[in-house]
Amino acid sequence: MSIIILGECFGDEGKGRVVDVASELADLVVRVNGGTNAGHTLQVKDTKIILRLIPSGILWEHTRCYLAQGMVLDLSVLAQEIKTLQDLGVDLERRLYVSANAHVILSEHKEQDSGGSGIGTTKKGVGPCYAAKMNRVSLRLGDLLNKKLSPKDTENLNIIKPYILNNCSYVLNSHLKNGERAIFEMAQGSCLDVDHGTYPYVTSSNTIAGGACTGAGISPLHIKLIIGVTKAYLTRVGDGPFPTEIDGDLANQLRGAGNEYGSVTKRPRRIGWLDLPLLKYSTMINGTNLLALTKLDVLSGFDEVKVCTAYEYNDVETDILPFDLSVAKPIYESFPGWNEDITGVRNMRDLPENAKKYVEFIEDFVGIEIGMISVGPERESIIDLSD
Ligand code: IMP
Repeated sequence: MSIIILGECFGDEGKGRVVDVASELADLVVRVNGGTNAGHTLQVKDTKIILRLIPSGILWEHTRCYLAQGMVLDLSVLAQEIKTLQDLGVDLERRLYVSANAHVILSEHKEQDSGGSGIGTTKKGVGPCYAAKMNRVSLRLGDLLNKKLSPKDTENLNIIKPYILNNCSYVLNSHLKNGERAIFEMAQGSCLDVDHGTYPYVTSSNTIAGGACTGAGISPLHIKLIIGVTKAYLTRVGDGPFPTEIDGDLANQLRGAGNEYGSVTKRPRRIGWLDLPLLKYSTMINGTNLLALTKLDVLSGFDEVKVCTAYEYNDVETDILPFDLSVAKPIYESFPGWNEDITGVRNMRDLPENAKKYVEFIEDFVGIEIGMISVGPERESIIDLSD
């Protein structure tokens, strides 16, 4: 059985966490899109590491991890991640595979991106690399194997070389045919999708469920479950419309409680209430059949918790995403908050009544079962509602 795990909103929903839990039962973990614009902070023994390219599933001894052709790779970052994992004693032999067809982020791409193109990119060269790919002038990892490179690039490529696979699709399809269980991990969030997000304030790849098939070269018929991850509130980094954005003390309090700073750029994330029309739209284009709600514990201690249920747009109330989300005014439903520390809660019935009502409202509005709620940063801080 294959599953896709994706972020439903603007990224940073805590997908790494869900991938980590699901990886326990997976044979293969496949990253399909994006590049060093993503990042998960992980704890390995006593060391904190950030992985931007290699799936966090690599930390389970039984998984095999793939960087598929839909990705864009920065040689120096990938070489560094390989070295860091090796130094920590993580065995990568026959466990890490990198597609020769993935495109390579060059220094000129990073230079072009250094101004952030006016939309607040992560400046990692991701957009310019994808642009070059679309222009058919980019280089794939495999193209570098027969090219004269600078000493530094040669050194990095030598570290990566043992893990390069001619074409991930053959191997992945053969494993899927044999009944192996795969997780396809989408980077960023669906509302940053280049075709379906808040263009032009988007990333340059397909971040929605369909992107798993194009990025990895597998049929949609393989996918049995699509898990959409959403935080209990909303954050966004970079520019772009954000109707439910809040500021001032309330935003600072939430940002502090949720440690909402970018893991790649360290930028303070913009903060807002959960936007349910946005979430519902996102689950529709993804075909999400299970939701994971993260960071519910961060909402403890607020007198009132709000969610957006519709917008006022051109003097009309609507729950359809308007063409220009930047002028949509949110219409809120307000809930009384809860004060209890819920980080130790493992059962829905032990949640404070007000938290329960909040979760049930989200589930009813979106019309998709919430199968997992995270209530703290520890691996076991989870309310598991499904199997
Ligand atoms: P780029 O992907 O670096 O080109 O940035 C394009 C937009 O996507 C910017 O608004 C970034 O802040 C946003 N973005 C890219 N990667 C992530 C991510 O992993 N989490 C959240 N936002 C991201």
